[in-house]
Amino acid sequence: MSPSAPRLLWRELCLFDGLTTLAEPINLLVADGKVAGLWPTRLFPEAMAEGAVEAGRGGVMTPGLVDCHTHLVYAGNRAAEFEQRLEGASYAEIAKAGGGILSTVRATRAASEDELLAQSLPRLQALLDDGVTTLEIKSGYGLSSADELKMLRVARRLGELLPLRITTTLLGAHALPPEFAGDSDGYIALVCNEMIPAAVAAGLVDAVDVFCENIAFSPAQCELVFQAAQRHGLPIKVHAEQLSNQGASALAARYQGLSADHIEFLDEAGVQAMAAAGTVATLLPGAFYTLRETQLPPIALLRQYAVPMALASDANPGTSPICFPTLTLNQACTLFRLTPREALAGMTAHAARALGRADLGRIEVGAPADLCLWDVQQPAELAYAVQPGRLRQRIFNGAISYSKEANIHAR
Ligand code: NIG
Ligand code: FE
Repeated sequence: MSPSAPRLLWRELCLFDGLTTLAEPINLLVADGKVAGLWPTRLFPEAMAEGAVEAGRGGVMTPGLVDCHTHLVYAGNRAAEFEQRLEGASYAEIAKAGGGILSTVRATRAASEDELLAQSLPRLQALLDDGVTTLEIKSGYGLSSADELKMLRVARRLGELLPLRITTTLLGAHALPPEFAGDSDGYIALVCNEMIPAAVAAGLVDAVDVFCENIAFSPAQCELVFQAAQRHGLPIKVHAEQLSNQGASALAARYQGLSADHIEFLDEAGVQAMAAAGTVATLLPGAFYTLRETQLPPIALLRQYAVPMALASDANPGTSPICFPTLTLNQACTLFRLTPREALAGMTAHAARALGRADLGRIEVGAPADLCLWDVQQPAELAYAVQPGRLRQRIFNGAISYSKEANIHAR
């Protein structure tokens, strides 16, 4: 952001600040990449408009959306498995037969770094077009040090190509690669002793994730990965209690985990452990929907213990081939009975916290100006209707990166 970038002023906004919708219309000023001022419109000191560009009037302003759990970088697709599931095969059966995650591993290993980038770009563009300004991208379809690092490099490059913030997560412990069949402990040792150090040395990783499940890795194995991550100063998170209760969320809480994700089978003890540690509960209704799950995450307990609920797309080729954040808002309300306010906070303030970036996902003076202006009357409409094209402006780091009216499209 150059020091001469214009100050931008919006008037008469209905403003959702990341946690709540403000009671009266708001004027908002952005300068030097940051939110510089917020006033109720009727109290706006007109002198502040001096020299500012009038960027818009009316509409709903939210923080830029934060998608805190994605597997966006991968090659190929799993439409054939989608058809198998329609004929009655389960996700776990397909995985046990060498399909599922491993079929994407084969395609991802075979793809060059440039091919991987080219295949991932349209998915990323779809997220941007529906308001995302920060997202997390996991590895986990390489399952060798070289291929995991290739995925992470692609993730970093995507962040350089488009106007958004990307955080990277090493998910080496996603599935057992075929060359380690029968030796999952040996593979975990590779993740801990080779993969994590190599990703750290290359500056490619911001956090470490594991898939703790009876079709993936045991709690004891996941704990070894957490310990290795912590030796390298990396925060941890976990794919937890998606298909069964493994106690993985409580385990992650013991390691001050940023978040426990999925959590359909989470029990009260796990919720309490998360509350005590400040671990965020990340809900992934896209996977619940795609797998036609029936076990609901313990929303009432999460509310009771005031565990922050983040919400993410889980964009991935198997269980959530969905790159449409406002659909994720709708799914959270329709399937999990979140309120629209909870869903929006889940994709802004709480999602940012799940990334260890509490400075993002809020509209407050001094915060980075990552913002979305929507063509709706009230925030609840974003979760209520499933409709692309409602983004009027996207503001990234204080500059308008997309504007429907002015036809600005920074790509
Ligand atoms: O978040 N749970 C495991 N990992 C992904 C699914 C990945 C895949 O099937 O490719 C998830 O649901
Ligand atoms: Fe996932």
